[in-house]
Amino acid sequence: MPDNKKFYTLFDNENGNSYEIPVLDGTVGPDVLDITNLYKESGLFTYDPGFTSTASCKSKITYIDGEQGILRHRGYDIKELAENSNFMEVCYLLLHGDLPSTEDQNKFRDAITNHTMINEQLMFLYRGFKRGAHPMAIMVGVVGALSAFYHDSTDINDPNQRMIASHRLIAKMPTIGAMAYKYSIGQPYVYPKNELTYSENFLNMMFAVPTQKYKVNKVLAKAIDKFFILHSDHEQNASTSTVRLAGSSNANPFACIAAGIASLWGPAHGGANEAVIKMLSKIGSKDKINEFIEKSKDKNDPFRLMGFGHRVYKNYDPRAAVMKKTAHEVLEELNIKNDPLLEIALELEKIALNDEYFIEKKLYPNVDFYSGIILKAMGIPINMFTVLFAIGRTAGWVSQWKEMIEDPIKKIGRPRQLYIGENTRSYKPEEKREKISLFKRLWFK
Ligand code: SDX
Repeated sequence: MPDNKKFYTLFDNENGNSYEIPVLDGTVGPDVLDITNLYKESGLFTYDPGFTSTASCKSKITYIDGEQGILRHRGYDIKELAENSNFMEVCYLLLHGDLPSTEDQNKFRDAITNHTMINEQLMFLYRGFKRGAHPMAIMVGVVGALSAFYHDSTDINDPNQRMIASHRLIAKMPTIGAMAYKYSIGQPYVYPKNELTYSENFLNMMFAVPTQKYKVNKVLAKAIDKFFILHSDHEQNASTSTVRLAGSSNANPFACIAAGIASLWGPAHGGANEAVIKMLSKIGSKDKINEFIEKSKDKNDPFRLMGFGHRVYKNYDPRAAVMKKTAHEVLEELNIKNDPLLEIALELEKIALNDEYFIEKKLYPNVDFYSGIILKAMGIPINMFTVLFAIGRTAGWVSQWKEMIEDPIKKIGRPRQLYIGENTRSYKPEEKREKISLFKRLWFK
């Protein structure tokens, strides 16, 4: 190892061997041990279920300091972006690495606007779903099906096709999501309108009807735009890692984003916003809060305080702070006084943040804790909440996917394992096998 290089030595006290592990340092944040050659040199794997201490890639897109509660996209703090930027500008920032000039912003906005419609044939795919299907099931299906329609942007080795696919995905997600909602309530689809902004368009496609003029509320459109910004990217979370892993096999971009949507749907991840509202409704009143907080501490009870805790943030999620402020603005705009769910959420946060268990485990509200209150107040159905998360996160997914494809050391993702199953054994003819049913033994062990 060259003298100026920092490294750790791994010492095998059984055989006396030692291995030097190079240390890589980034712009900011923890250094990493580069174990690329560990198995080749030592025959050892590392073990890290849930990847709590593992960096899966190098990235320039998003930086999170979980201890300080810091989130930056391409170096810009999330609070500054939420206050001063707009979602289209943040999409450009994530994809291209810096804030756009006025000319670039207009060109980008036009590129997105001109891809907002979807192939009419896809409407027949919606009809294959039950009317009551969860809209995330429709999102997974329809977004995956885009690869059957847009063959001119599936060649992942062509930078131009990569960019068109990224634009198409950002542009079409609101259309596909709003259509899933309209399908579920049996109303006609509303086509995108080029004269509206991205977020105004979404609200129009969600709530306009052919029988009367629909005027988009600018305050609510701004709140939705902020919602999309706050959800746009978040480093190597579960769904982004899913997109990267799918992309590492050179799968087409539409299939990769469909995989990301599927992963986001889980209540431990993007499905938490829907779960928070259901939890607050179940709590029902402030005097029941302590009962649920105690339940969430009980290891034998699967109940967790939804919208609380985070793998990375061991401080207040900066997005939750902005979301909380936006919730007050939206309720005021809609003249909703003393929203019962907001009252419970505020009291729950106050109690939890002063509770020994939550303090010791550093559990704070995350992005999902207040977001549902905003969406519910706007009349967006609970089962659409994660769809909106997916719409915002598509900007991050396509940016991370593009970065992965363009990474000079791109490799197919293929983790190993610690095998703890049966060692080698010979085949047993049926008459020589144990009488106890394998099913019973495994199922009721
Ligand atoms: C998102 O990764 C991302 O960046 C995700 C995201 C993004 O933008 O992409 O930020 C979006 O997914 C936000 C998280 C939304 N999920 C929820 O709100 C669901 C509730 N939260 C928990 O399920 C949990 O906090 C996780 C899944 C978010 C994080 O789980 P970890 O990192 O695996 O932490 P853990 O489960 O090991 O918890 C550590 C301890 C445990 O107790 P011990 O075993 O140490 O005794 O804290 C406890 C947990 O039991 N704990 C909770 C809790 N969350 C963790 N106890 C009660 N309520 C909770 N919510």
